[in-house]
Amino acid sequence: MEAIQLHTNVKSLNGELAIPGDKSISHRSIMFGAIAEGETTVTNFLLGDDCLNTIECFKKLGVLIEREDEKVIIHGKGLDGLQEPADILDVGNSGTTIRLLLGILAGRPFHSVLIGDQSIGKRPMTRVTQPLRSLGAVIHGRKNGEFTPLSIKGGHLEGMEYQLPVASAQVKSSILFAGLQASGTTTIIEPVKTRDHTERMIRQFGGEVEINGQTIQIKGNQKLTGTSIHVPGDISSAAFFLVAGAVLPNSEIKLTNVGLNPTRTGIIDVMNEMGADITITQHNEDAFEPSGDIVIKSSVLKGITIEGNIIPRLIDEIPIIALLATQAEGKTIIKDAHELKVKETNRIDTVVAELTKLGADIEATDDGMIINGKSNLTGGSVSSHGDHRIGMMLAIAASLCKEDVYLEKEDAIYVSYPSFFDHLHSLT
Ligand code: S3P
Repeated sequence: MEAIQLHTNVKSLNGELAIPGDKSISHRSIMFGAIAEGETTVTNFLLGDDCLNTIECFKKLGVLIEREDEKVIIHGKGLDGLQEPADILDVGNSGTTIRLLLGILAGRPFHSVLIGDQSIGKRPMTRVTQPLRSLGAVIHGRKNGEFTPLSIKGGHLEGMEYQLPVASAQVKSSILFAGLQASGTTTIIEPVKTRDHTERMIRQFGGEVEINGQTIQIKGNQKLTGTSIHVPGDISSAAFFLVAGAVLPNSEIKLTNVGLNPTRTGIIDVMNEMGADITITQHNEDAFEPSGDIVIKSSVLKGITIEGNIIPRLIDEIPIIALLATQAEGKTIIKDAHELKVKETNRIDTVVAELTKLGADIEATDDGMIINGKSNLTGGSVSSHGDHRIGMMLAIAASLCKEDVYLEKEDAIYVSYPSFFDHLHSLT
């Protein structure tokens, strides 16, 4: 396996970065633009492979989508404008694409087949196929619809009340897309509040959704109207530089236009509790998706326990938080994060295995990990295992290492942050 050599022994990181667009919001902007009536213009769209796959899927569903760099124009013709695809819909590595798309297709009276890459083939789909079947969609798939390949024939849906068994914004969003097309009202009850980009975007496109704590209600047969969406920077991408700036001595990094939706800012709360030096300026709290500039400076950090309701607010940041914890004094315990096992890789296993290779003191538990800091990281040969967030975490880890570090499967980072290495090197 070919590997790239990572930069090690980095003395400090300084400078300013404009973080690329948010992955979750970029996906949703295409999906809503495609089912709305009229033109939708998206700016600062994320050019990661996952979001580009979402565009390709909607083109196969007959939607005219034009793109020039980070600007996308979607010519929506409403839900009824979607057409039966002549070809298989390939979502690549993207769990968000397949799960949300299934919710849209659940109400469409035609047949579609969905596949993805090897990682997608291992990720659980019953969490969406079961409620979508209860609403009225006909879904077939490997292991009774647990795994891809999946086929779906949508049609008439009846609204229902559904208690989510897992805290998952993907499942919630999938049911909301189906609920938009169902007769009557669909009610979703979340065990813990998860990211609310779908709810915000329904309103941005002129639709109605009622939110009472963890209960979300949507009426069917709504018509959405095309609009303009400016995608803020992805806090999950910013997280790599927040941690890098905190742990490398004499560092100061400014990250501009970062999404600060409160359902996503768990990383900031955790870093503040650990003693990080974070300042937020230009906080645009009233926008449809809040954003702001963040300045991070190096500081002394201490270990903490991360558990309970905060987990969905930082679920994608746990790999980089684990690295952060290796540089904090004392013990950090991460609990209630079983969901890590069903991400692009089993992130409990991949984080623990790869950080152990670099000399960290980290142990896996059933629902998270325990990290003892502060460790001097050494070096070695590591792999992203095809998981973008593991690859980027390891590149930041390498900057702390004293010996050589080689990374296999670095190309995984194209999924969410194609300019990651350019951004990292621009700060040295
Ligand atoms: C996402 C929700 C999260 C997250 C994923 C993106 C979304 O997954 O891990 O990267 O865009 O809704 P779950 O909702 O399944 O936890």
